[in-house]
Amino acid sequence: MLPLNDALLQQLLSAAAGARTHSHAPYSKYAVGAAVLDEHGRVHAGCNIENAAYPQSWCAETTALGAMVMAGGRQARAALVMGPGPEIITPCGGCRQKLREFNDGDLIVIAADPTGIKAHWTLEQLLPASFGPAHLKF
Ligand code: THU
Repeated sequence: MLPLNDALLQQLLSAAAGARTHSHAPYSKYAVGAAVLDEHGRVHAGCNIENAAYPQSWCAETTALGAMVMAGGRQARAALVMGPGPEIITPCGGCRQKLREFNDGDLIVIAADPTGIKAHWTLEQLLPASFGPAHLKF
């Protein structure tokens, strides 16, 4: 059971779906949209942006986190990522660590495709024993 109300889930789904239409994925053709809910209840969205120099590409979650930070958000409460399906999308390792920067472990990560929500996890499940900001307070 997701600890988010239906209205919020719909907001995250539609923000991610909208962001996905902006995806720049001419190489993989794998369009992704992401939406992050911040500590103020605001939703920030982003898409994946690929590059002809392939390793310079970045994920939708990264774009959405950038939008959150630029809007003054510093805590991610939930993140929804929408791929094309049918395989259930999950955030890559790098994005798990980027999400970790803005949450201590109770972040809800939701996987979706254009037909709706397919799975959900906590960030702790996706990135156990993670390295985080507290490690640098030595
Ligand atoms: N991608 C994302 O944007 N988010 C994910 O969670 C998984 C993968 C992107 C990166 C690349 O542009 C494309 O999907 C194929 O890997």
